[in-house]
Amino acid sequence: MQSVVIILSAGMGTRMQSDLPKVLHNIACEPLLIHSMRTAAAMDCQKTIIVAGHGSEEVEKVAINFNPNAEIVIQSEQLGTAHAVNQARGKLLDFNGEVFILYGDTPFIKPNTLKNMSKLRENGSNIVVLGFNTDEQNSYGRLIITEDGSLEEIVEFKDATDDQKKINYCNSGVICTDTNLLFDLVSEIENKNANNEFYLTDIIKLAKNRNLKCATVECSESEAMGINSRVELAHAESYFQEEKRTEMMLNGVTLTDPNTVWFSSDTVIGRDTIIEQNVIFGPETTVESHALIKSFSHIEGAHISKGAIVGPFARLRPGAELANNSKVGNFCEVKESQIGEGAKVNHLSYIGDAKIGDNVNIGAGTITCNYDGVSKHLTEIGDRAFIGSNTSLVAPIQLGSDTMTASGSVITSNIPDKALGIARSKQENKLNFAVKFFERLKAIKLINTKDK
Ligand code: UD1
Ligand code: CA
Repeated sequence: MQSVVIILSAGMGTRMQSDLPKVLHNIACEPLLIHSMRTAAAMDCQKTIIVAGHGSEEVEKVAINFNPNAEIVIQSEQLGTAHAVNQARGKLLDFNGEVFILYGDTPFIKPNTLKNMSKLRENGSNIVVLGFNTDEQNSYGRLIITEDGSLEEIVEFKDATDDQKKINYCNSGVICTDTNLLFDLVSEIENKNANNEFYLTDIIKLAKNRNLKCATVECSESEAMGINSRVELAHAESYFQEEKRTEMMLNGVTLTDPNTVWFSSDTVIGRDTIIEQNVIFGPETTVESHALIKSFSHIEGAHISKGAIVGPFARLRPGAELANNSKVGNFCEVKESQIGEGAKVNHLSYIGDAKIGDNVNIGAGTITCNYDGVSKHLTEIGDRAFIGSNTSLVAPIQLGSDTMTASGSVITSNIPDKALGIARSKQENKLNFAVKFFERLKAIKLINTKDK
């Protein structure tokens, strides 16, 4: 069956109190819209059409970046959900098949749920609406179900009678129907209601007038969660994190204190990896199996290989690649660098734009001086090198394998294999000077206090 997904995303999102279009606010470091687009992508549909309005240029950029084949249509005036759907008509003139309507502000709809809706349609329902039950007070549209279990009507909260408002079965907004039928019904919709808007929900009444069959599929309240304010955004974030933590643990990842670990939507972690308390994963991070991420580490855009140990208090930035059994520890920052197998960067170091070989030991306080104020430069360190504490490596620079630097050195020229680089002034010992010096200081202090 050919299918398309239309994602309604033109609304202003007034209650977000934001300059950013609502659908570009993040959950788990990813815009709401992308969550809906992921669901669409999992449906293997022929087209994904985004209806954009407020901030459409930004919305388009984000959408195309995720799926270059996504098609954007603009709804310049937000006259309602039916009017929004109608903007996609031109893109589907020659299309015959199934259509799913999703919202850009309803991020948790599961592909499986859409598949269930599709099955119900195949079994003879012309329109299938996704509903959910809730005991909480809310202003969702109400689903009116007849005795035979079919869907009779959707009544918007503002237009509902007191009795209808008491119905617990609500409209998630998600619809599955036939494309031609959809546009046919949408063209009949009027805006005679409390909001003077063209309600997509009116297609049910219109379908019933034609004796068509309408049905519902039920999902959980959380799956149907729509985001209208920052309070709801925070609520959705914690729901997402809870689900992700559970999924991680069920896949064999140990979370010492699950509630203190925060993932991005794309975080991937292998079996038997342990994540201690208070760890944050930004976008695009993968961790292989049997790694250990200690407390208070902040990790984004990094790849951590098997058996590596990170933290406590490590900061891994984009492009950090840790090979098997390597270590990046206490108060170290790594950016755009490869850390070789078994290599150690354990104390208070900054490693940026570097290629560090296998079994290298980076001493405490080592800094790669990678930036000259204009360009970034590379530091290369060969296998088994031993970098003395407090070495500054002024890039571009190459240190061969089995090299060593004297601690405190400022290394500005390359070091050949097996050599020691030492770059600091030579030490001189002045005998008895320390004692004499203190005596002199004490004498001066005595004179000064007598004067006062
Ligand atoms: C809508 C449903 C309601 C349902 C609720 C679920 C209608 C008339 N009502 O109400 O039954 O319970 O969703 O969340 O459909 N949008 C546009 N253009 C517009 C208007 C809206 O693109 O002109 C988009 C919004 O960006 C949003 C979605 O459509 O992504 C829903 O719009 P919103 O105004 O939030 O609808 P609700 O009042 O929540
Ligand atoms: Ca809404």
